[in-house]
Parts: sequence; structure tokens; C-alpha cells
Amino acid sequence: MSSTGRHEADASVAATSAAEAGAAETSAAARASTALAIPVAPPGDPATFPALAAEIRELARERNAVILAHSYQRPEVQDVADHVGDSLLLSRLAAAARQSTIVFCGVSFMAETAKILSPTKTVLLPDLAAGCSLADSIDADQLRAWKAEHPGAVVVSYVNTTAAVKAESDYCCTSGNARAVIESIPRDLPILFLPDMFLGLWLQRVTGRKLTIWLGECHVHAGIRAADVERWHRDEPGAELLVHPECGCTSQVLEAAGDDVHILSTEGMVTYAERSKADTFLIATEVGILHRLALKAPTKRFVPVNREAICQYMKLITLEKVRDSLRDGVHPIEVPVDVAAKARRALERMISIA
Ligand code: 13P
Ligand code: SF4
Repeated sequence: MSSTGRHEADASVAATSAAEAGAAETSAAARASTALAIPVAPPGDPATFPALAAEIRELARERNAVILAHSYQRPEVQDVADHVGDSLLLSRLAAAARQSTIVFCGVSFMAETAKILSPTKTVLLPDLAAGCSLADSIDADQLRAWKAEHPGAVVVSYVNTTAAVKAESDYCCTSGNARAVIESIPRDLPILFLPDMFLGLWLQRVTGRKLTIWLGECHVHAGIRAADVERWHRDEPGAELLVHPECGCTSQVLEAAGDDVHILSTEGMVTYAERSKADTFLIATEVGILHRLALKAPTKRFVPVNREAICQYMKLITLEKVRDSLRDGVHPIEVPVDVAAKARRALERMISIA
């Protein structure tokens, strides 16, 4: 076995969840338990939210700042933001922002991405501890070693990676455009896909391309199991099922899929729910999206298949920390110039592909 071979998923595991089959590396389990040991931070006293929100909006005006929030953020943080969206939309908004400061209510790889795409702007992350178990599953040294084992392969990295990993990559993608990115690469070129194995296995299935896949996972989505989905499907037989491709259940769900199952990014879920004629949706992703779905499609019903699917990292951002971030200019994100220059190539390809 190669030095990094234990990290790779083979096509033969595509039909089953590698994690549920016990094939996931032990370090992934260790990362998950570390992440799960982080308590979900208390949001603060809801009675203070209106005054804090007013203070934040005033500070944003004074500081010429735009506030971007991911759909997994707390409801009150989403409500105070200028824009709420998925990784792809927020990357595009960061690249096009007219303001001199971007406050990123999300996790560190998202703030780094904004800084790389808008290097002359100040990018603030309200809590530096807002990390990502998926981004932690591969570092630049591991990627260099993996590339050395597969000379000539094209490297496609999910956006949930560090800037140093992006700098070693040919393309980045998000769940919103991963399929289009893979399909844009000539069919005769071998592809290394990292770091999410469930997204990789799904891409392999929908594109018909053989991918060499890194065995990384997000502890939140890996915890959404086929049994959760089956139970709700039984209880809500008329509902449509919307599944994020990072979910541990994606492969099994697709095995039994009918017309009522859709594998979508978070933004894709919002757009789909707004347009669909159905009135009930089962949602398989982090529960923060429920706030956005309820706002965008207020007459429809959204049922989380796993109410415990909470990203502790996303929930580190509170209204108080957003206020402090704007007021005190904390915490500015910096990416070394040489790393940013290399990572930008992969990111610019990502935002240019639909
Ligand atoms: P999206 O690309 O759908 O926003 O997902 C990002 C993420 O962190 C999922 O866990
Ligand atoms: Fe990372 Fe998972 Fe949290 Fe998304 S939900 S930021 S992939 S740990």
C-alpha cells in the first residue's frame, strides 16, 4: 500500500457509504469526536438581539463593510447580514464586493477564500476558532505526497480546504458546481478529488467518471444516516427529500431514489423549495438552513431528518462577536501572497464555472 493509500476510496466502495462500511480511517473518527466535543456556543440573550442588530448595521455603514453569512449561521446572524448563501454564492459576492471590508459569518476556509478573491479588502472572521472538520482532513504535505503517487492527474479540491491545499490544486469546486467542474475536464485526464468522500462518490456516479477520492468527511454530514432518511420517508410519504451531497447517506439514498429525491447544495435546496409544487420537504443537511428555507418559502413545511445535525464551528459566530468584529476590526484574515496567488487560479476557475 502507498504511503497515502489508506486515504483513498476505490470505485468499488461507491455503492455503500465508506464510513458506514467501516472503511473510514481512524483519524476521521478522531477528528469527528474532537469536533463533537466542542459545545454549541450559547447565542446570548435574545432580548439583546434587536439592539445588537441595530448597532451592527450602523457599524457596517460607518466602516464601509458588507456582512456575508452562510446558510448554517444562527438565525439572528443570518438576519443581520447583507447576503446569506452557500459557499459558491458567497465566494462570488466576496469577489465582486464594492465595500472595503468583508465580515465573514462562516468558517475560516470561507473567510480565506474571500481574502484570496479580494486581496485588497479587509476580511474579518468574528471567531478564529470557527474551523471545519472536513478542511482539517487533508493538509498541503499530504496532498503533495498524494500527487506524487499520481503524476499527471488533475487535482480538484472542494472549497472546504485550507488556502495551502487550494494552492496545490488545479480546480476548486463547491457542492453547487462540482458536477460542472468535473464535466469541464477532458475525459482522458485522471482526476484526484478531495477531501469529501461522499461528494466524490456521488460525483463519480452522476458524471460516470472514475475519480480517485480522498477519504475525508464532515462530521456533521457523515452523521446523517440512511436510517434517519428511511424513518422520515416512512412518516412523511408525500414529502420531497433534499440531500446535501456531503451526507453519509447519499449513496444509499440514491440506490433507492425516485423522482422525489434531489441531491443539492444549500443554495440549490432554497431555489428548489421555492419553485417546487410540493408542500413538505425532508431536509438532510445542517439545520441552520431551516431558517432560510422558512423565510424563502413561508407556506411550505420543512422537516430536518436529523435535528442533531449542528455544526459547532458555524455556531461559534454570535451577534455579539459580529458587533465586536466590526467595532474592533477583529480578526483580520491574511493569506501569504505566494499561497494566495496559486490558490486564486483554482478559485477563479471555480467561480467562472456555472
Ligand atoms: P455549501 O457549499 O452547500 O454552502 O456547503 C458548505 C459546507 O460547509 C457544507 O457543510
Ligand atoms: Fe465543515 Fe461540516 Fe461545518 Fe460544513 S458543516 S463547515 S463541512 S464541519
